[in-house]
Amino acid sequence: MGVSKSDAILIVGGGAFGLSTAFHLAQKGYTNVSVFEKDDHIPPRYSAANDLNKIVRAEYEDPFYTDLTIKAIAAWKTPLFAPHFHQTGFLHCVSGDAPKEAIDTLNRFRASAERNSQIKPHVSALDGESDIRQTCWQLDGPLPGWKGYFNRFDGYAHSGNALAGIYRAAQAAGVRFFLGEQGAVDEIVYVSTVNGRKCAGIRTKNGRFHSSALVIVAAGANAGRLVPQIGQQVVAKSWSVAHVQLTDDETSGLRGIPVTYARDLGFFFEPDPKTNLLKLCPMGGGYINTDPRTGVSLSPESLKESAFVPEEDEKQMRKLLAQTLPSLADRPLVKKSLCWFADTNDSDFIIDYVPNLESSLMLLSGDSGHLFKMFPIAGSWVTDLLEAPDNKQALARWRWKQPDPNAGKDWGGAVSWRLGESKEFSAILPPKASKL
Ligand SMILES: Cc1cc2nc3c(=O)[nH]c(=O)nc-3n(C[C@H](O)[C@H](O)[C@H](O)COP(=O)(O)OP(=O)(O)OC[C@H]3O[C@@H](n4cnc5c(N)ncnc54)[C@H](O)[C@@H]3O)c2cc1C
Ligand SMILES: *[C@@H]1O[C@H](CO)[C@@H](O)[C@H](O)[C@H]1NC(C)=O
Ligand SMILES: *[C@@H]1O[C@H](CO)[C@@H](O)[C@H](O)[C@H]1NC(C)=O
Repeated sequence: MGVSKSDAILIVGGGAFGLSTAFHLAQKGYTNVSVFEKDDHIPPRYSAANDLNKIVRAEYEDPFYTDLTIKAIAAWKTPLFAPHFHQTGFLHCVSGDAPKEAIDTLNRFRASAERNSQIKPHVSALDGESDIRQTCWQLDGPLPGWKGYFNRFDGYAHSGNALAGIYRAAQAAGVRFFLGEQGAVDEIVYVSTVNGRKCAGIRTKNGRFHSSALVIVAAGANAGRLVPQIGQQVVAKSWSVAHVQLTDDETSGLRGIPVTYARDLGFFFEPDPKTNLLKLCPMGGGYINTDPRTGVSLSPESLKESAFVPEEDEKQMRKLLAQTLPSLADRPLVKKSLCWFADTNDSDFIIDYVPNLESSLMLLSGDSGHLFKMFPIAGSWVTDLLEAPDNKQALARWRWKQPDPNAGKDWGGAVSWRLGESKEFSAILPPKASKL
């Protein structure tokens, strides 16, 4: 067993992993839980989940994650989470120009959906333009060569609102929150013990030390700054996000459309009724920010540096619109940014104690760009680990892995469900505006 229910537990990061963990710890009767978040409000601007929406799709190529998502979707339908979950369905296709790799991936997803007895009844084939338009008449573009399937079991979650909702629920359950200057964690503090070393707490930017029995680092793409021991197991990576600003009538006209995804072009969501924004994401191999001295990719320190999208991604998002919702294809793209997450080479999460510290420091990382759908249940994996009799992560795939010194630098692009190779952030930076 790890800590006792009254021990001080400090969670670093008020994003998806951190808030879900705080909530589940409080539910399980842990009474001295605090969350440290560097932004001065939740949802934090630095969180990859500070967003209008994230896909919640149950079918994974790997049935392990399919089973987890089925549990997560059941939890999304409970009163605390239900306001943020929208089961609009998932229109999952490839365009006529898709490379074989994208078609193969689509087929694996489809086979996974059809293999699962709970999902299968919700799946129907989309063999071309007319099937697609019967499923969603609003898609009035040419849909050239589009085919795939529609899955009514899936949908999306309003991730920013879900974070805010669980923040309030965790506060009400007694979790303490330190935000802004008080919540920005500068370092993990270690002490020597008879057996070696352990974590004694954290120091925040304002110089204050907080002692603890356990520190749980849930710092997203920033994990490597606080826990450099992680090395290249986790790579900070980003994808482009952009939006089209719609009118009230346009938003209303697109109400209820499914999450629409062409594996080779990217995806978009039903517009958000509050802001009238339609969110687009072109996906792809993503962008990494490798420190040439260490070979480790870390997310840039400021949000400003990521407030753009590369030209080629913008082109691809316009192509996606031209094929589906052509009246929007030439509209300005607004609120552009690169969204940073923590990637592993096999897309498995890391939910484990950092080795050789007497179970005093835990890392929740490696979200690999697919964690948010698990938001309602992710914290329960932490309470499971805290209750493990030998302090050992029972699931080998979520363990801390010893870094492989021979691993190639750019492995992340080769993950099957992404198309294309990763590029360096330094290579896509927009030219600096000249100072007059
Ligand atoms: C473009 C894009 C699209 C995505 N789409 C999907 C999707 O469709 N479906 C899906 O399931 N998932 C999706 N994801 C993934 C999902 O957003 C992430 O898996 C999830 O947000 C990761 O949660 P996290 O808690 O690990 O990190 P985050 O949510 O990023 O939270 C980390 C938090 O730690 C804080 N922090 C960092 N350092 C410190 C410090 N030193 N002190 C204090 N606080 C600190 C940050 O401010 C931040 O709030 C997407 C991600 C991206 C980038
Ligand atoms: C929580 O733990 C801290 C650090 O050990 C301690 O100072 C504080 O009194 C504890 N609070 C409660 C409510 O037990
Ligand atoms: C991923 O990296 C780990 C070490 O961190 C290594 O053991 C494993 O073989 C790698 N897996 C793949 C698929 O490359």
